[in-house]
Amino acid sequence: MNAEKLGMTVDELKEKFIEIYGHSEEKIRVFSAPGRVNLIGEHTDYNGGYVFPAALTMGTFVVARARADRILRLAATDLEDRVEASLDRLEEYRHLKWGNYQLGVADQLQKHGYGLTGCDMLFHGTLPYGAGLSSSASIEVATALTLATLGKEAFGEDAAIDLVELAKIGQKAENLYVGVNCGIMDQFASAMGKVNHAIFLNAKDLSYKLVPLNLGDNNIVIANTNKKRGLGDSKYNERRRECETGLDVLKTVLPGISCLGDVSYEQFIEHKHVIKDEVIRKRVEHVVSENDRVKKSVETLYKGNLSEFGRLMVDSHCSLRDLYEVTGIELDTLVEEALKIDGVLGSRMTGAGFGGCSVSIVKKDATEWFIEKVGREYERKVGLKADFYVSEARDGARENRIGNGR
Ligand code: GLA
Repeated sequence: MNAEKLGMTVDELKEKFIEIYGHSEEKIRVFSAPGRVNLIGEHTDYNGGYVFPAALTMGTFVVARARADRILRLAATDLEDRVEASLDRLEEYRHLKWGNYQLGVADQLQKHGYGLTGCDMLFHGTLPYGAGLSSSASIEVATALTLATLGKEAFGEDAAIDLVELAKIGQKAENLYVGVNCGIMDQFASAMGKVNHAIFLNAKDLSYKLVPLNLGDNNIVIANTNKKRGLGDSKYNERRRECETGLDVLKTVLPGISCLGDVSYEQFIEHKHVIKDEVIRKRVEHVVSENDRVKKSVETLYKGNLSEFGRLMVDSHCSLRDLYEVTGIELDTLVEEALKIDGVLGSRMTGAGFGGCSVSIVKKDATEWFIEKVGREYERKVGLKADFYVSEARDGARENRIGNGR
């Protein structure tokens, strides 16, 4: 990630860090982890299905310096709040409004056997918060990478950092400390993203393939509804429970399955009558058909058939709107208006839904008009101003060594 494009240069971040925490002999380090956009495969991860996200240019920077004691101090460039916590009493800080993600990660790292050292940390986020682009996962993964790296050095260990394990720890922290029963997609994409690639991830066993994103003369354009939402109080956990109910019913006729990701679309059609509750049946149909679409999308991308890829994106949106019921007027309007523009190959909601963002594949020479026209119509119909980001797929979490003298 490039901090300069995003408001503050790395040098400015270091200056800010010294202003807050003072000088010391120890070297200041900079780590970062991106947000993600999911191209297709929504609400499939916690069902053991496939997803297809890419890491973004925007994300979270952590400026950090190890301490000789067991104290963690947290600050952020956009908040007055300061948090001071002991690595020996991490359970005590669950109630924090800000800092709970980071301390949750520290707690989970220790519970997974990581030796940690105290450290001063300054957070700088370049993602819009709560917009469905995984700002929370990027904080979790950036924190995990910082603490794991500094801890390893303090204890003189030379084992390599396991980024997949850090992604799982980030997810666990979110489940336990933030109360959202999220799947693994966001943290995995933030940790494992690769420049110009999307990740075809099997969320059941975490096997994955990096797929080149050859979009030719097209851009990935993200549109933010700017509808405020909190995943914790949304219907996310309710959808998860509905899927579990559907799975239990299907198990009565398909005893070999352990998750909805194991069910093919043909099996669903054959056995759907056993799911008597219509709502549950719709939820299951979404998951099973979406899983199928992810596999097809990856195939079409390999064949270079972008228009078919775009069509599958639109099918995905319709399924999320009609069967899974997680879109709403804001996302539906963005997608509807996008599809009216010449040069748009596909458009859909991305992330959990209930507000958040849409993602569209747009011809480069139609992008300016897209932003103007969709923005204008969205504001006229919904009464909110949308924000737009033209994004590229970037690398996942890493230490930013430029200017660190390392
Ligand atoms: C959120 C969760 C992910 C995933 C998506 C929906 O982003 O954090 O795990 O479930 O919603 O696809």
